[in-house]
Amino acid sequence: MRKRILTGDRPTGKLHLGHLFGSLKNRVALQGKYETYILIADVQALTDNFLTPEKVRENVLEVAMDNLAVGIDPAIATLCIQSLIPEIAELTVFFSNLVTIARLERNPTVKEEISQKANLFRGGVTMGFLGYPISQAADILSFRAEVVPVGADQLPMVEQTREIARKFNLIYGKTFSLPRAAVSDFPRLKGLDGKSKMGKSLDNAIYLADSQVEIEGKVIKAFTDPKKVYKNDQGHPENCVVYQYYQLFSLKEEVASVKERCESGKLGCVECKKNLMKKIIAYLEPIKNKRHYYEKRPNLVKEILLTGTQKARKITQETMAIVKKRMKIDYFD
Ligand code: TRP
Repeated sequence: MRKRILTGDRPTGKLHLGHLFGSLKNRVALQGKYETYILIADVQALTDNFLTPEKVRENVLEVAMDNLAVGIDPAIATLCIQSLIPEIAELTVFFSNLVTIARLERNPTVKEEISQKANLFRGGVTMGFLGYPISQAADILSFRAEVVPVGADQLPMVEQTREIARKFNLIYGKTFSLPRAAVSDFPRLKGLDGKSKMGKSLDNAIYLADSQVEIEGKVIKAFTDPKKVYKNDQGHPENCVVYQYYQLFSLKEEVASVKERCESGKLGCVECKKNLMKKIIAYLEPIKNKRHYYEKRPNLVKEILLTGTQKARKITQETMAIVKKRMKIDYFD
């Protein structure tokens, strides 16, 4: 039997190049080898977007289309919607007995997010948000997934999932195998501002769905080496996001030549950026064509999600039957 993968996206915005290189390419490569489930985590998205449910709703289809556009094949991988899988919510309740509040407060990803969302949580952190690692453990374990392809920022979530699985097994008997994270070896992609990682909320991202004009406008404004003001100044490519992007979109020889010509002052930033734009646009072309195909067929996308969710529930229902038996609440079976 093939091992099972579960991974997920929060539907809070369209996906960008950071997602593409950080996780999407990885999951596309793995989909044939593993039994792959991709969860559109709308319940999790609502933990910090509860004031704007329409945003979450709109992005469920967007995120599904992004996945399909980069090559997730609905014939071999399964896309499904978290809120339509109530077993996850049920399992979350049982798991919450196994996790202390102090442990949740120590989760580094949650900690960082809380400090970023100081505004939203000014009156105090909600139980839903603090507890979302438990819900994420339920995502993974309700599928009895063994492999979880994620970006490095999600490692604390997988670690906490393993703790919960271990504790459940210890108390109620061996039920779950401990899942492992499969982190793509690609380092976090910097945003166009050169300061932080590419992110939806930071206005520094190139989206898979961006038009040619949008890409051109963004790349021309990208942060470059501040010491290179004039074309003939000697540049420091290691301090330049444009150079980082070349490493994704160009062959080795060209990367080496860009480096050499930038450092020696032969290559100006404008020329360098114009060349990069063309490469990004060409790279995204087939992805965008595929996306257009699905954009024109929203009913097909809904059908894929509905069928996928039904398939997913067979597994999660099976899991809950086992869990309830172990927890001795299988009264009428
Ligand atoms: N927390 C993940 C993120 O922000 C999304 C996610 C939800 C997820 N459920 C998951 C990832 C289960 C892996 C497995 O990107």
